[in-house]
Amino acid sequence: MMKADLLVKGCSELHTLSGGKKPRMGKEMMDTGLIKNGAFVVKNGEILDVGKEDRILKEYEAAEIIDASGKLVVPGFVDPHTHLVFSGSREDELVMKIQGKTYMEILNAGGGILRTVRKTREASKDQLKYEMKKRMDVMLAHGTTTAEAKSGYGLDLDNEMKCLEVIREIDHPLELVPTYMGAHALPPEFDDHSKYIDYCCDTVLPAVADVAEFCDVFCEKGVFDAGDSKRLLVKAAELGLGIKVHADEIENIGCTTMAAELGAISCEHLVKSSSGDIEAMAKNSVIGILLPGTPFMLMDDHYSPAREMIDHGMAIALATDLNPNCWTESMQMIITLACLQMKMMPEEALTASTFNAARAIGRADIGSIEPGKKADFLILGIPNLMHLPYHFGVNLVDMVFKEGVLQ
Ligand code: NIG
Ligand code: FE
Repeated sequence: MMKADLLVKGCSELHTLSGGKKPRMGKEMMDTGLIKNGAFVVKNGEILDVGKEDRILKEYEAAEIIDASGKLVVPGFVDPHTHLVFSGSREDELVMKIQGKTYMEILNAGGGILRTVRKTREASKDQLKYEMKKRMDVMLAHGTTTAEAKSGYGLDLDNEMKCLEVIREIDHPLELVPTYMGAHALPPEFDDHSKYIDYCCDTVLPAVADVAEFCDVFCEKGVFDAGDSKRLLVKAAELGLGIKVHADEIENIGCTTMAAELGAISCEHLVKSSSGDIEAMAKNSVIGILLPGTPFMLMDDHYSPAREMIDHGMAIALATDLNPNCWTESMQMIITLACLQMKMMPEEALTASTFNAARAIGRADIGSIEPGKKADFLILGIPNLMHLPYHFGVNLVDMVFKEGVLQ
């Protein structure tokens, strides 16, 4: 008998997401690597073997055995788009939205992002870590074991650096991947978007290139146009950063095709993407990160055209967009919205929240339960995958394991 640290047996449905390195595209997203009555073993924080329970029980003995009978077991959720570093909240803006104000009206009146910028600039690193830790505890309890975290509420060099350092320094089992998003709004000390992009390119990007892994930009009408966004992304790529873009969230101003042709790893939001944008993303193997929590909180009936994207062979990932305008830590909530509002199948939503989400932040060692991968996995108190979108608004996760350790 071979020895392992931990053996999980009796999984009613074990969705391994195993197979291959590339993101699953189009129809491949239905393949979740399902093993019924599955089991697996963990050693040194990694998956050692996975398969049918009969074989695993014959071949391995383990210091600890967990019985997952009647339960769903999946890889830990990966949340590939969050604005995790911010101070304060904006609950009164929800009331304004209920009364009919739009997101852009609130932003242009000095609310929205700029209001959070003021609070975040005032906050010390310790204050930011204190607020972030509470969110990260909730994320982990709801099954998120890795997340991307964008800066973008500091805007100037010192405050963007402060936010990125907080992402790097925070001591928490939930692993974070840092993205520089200084081009999130025009800071009050600038009166011209193009001059602010010059400042980002010349002063901020060279300083943050060692701290961040990706660069993102809010390419939107009234915020940064496609030309300025392109200048920033080209410079970021020269400095070795991966590139991402917030595109087609409110209006389509031609950013998605531009970013796809520049080699972006992902384009994010994509509510107003055209068929041409979808073709450009599919052709350039760009992962579309869809954020159905955002239109939900904006009370907008338009969601990203996920079905058209999947039919055109695109790879889709899902994320929370966690920020003061759309505050949820729960990928389970996002999976429910994805299935109900964008007509994604439960299998597609699971692939988009694990395997494809990991690829969308450049991680190949997470997102599936297969030999050699980090042992990040969830045991849920439901018997099958269909319950995940169906039984909504509560936490279905019984146990969260990060690198083989129960959290
Ligand atoms: O992705 N759209 C830009 N950024 C965030 C919202 C930020 C905020 O409202 O504070 C988003 O939705
Ligand atoms: Fe966002």
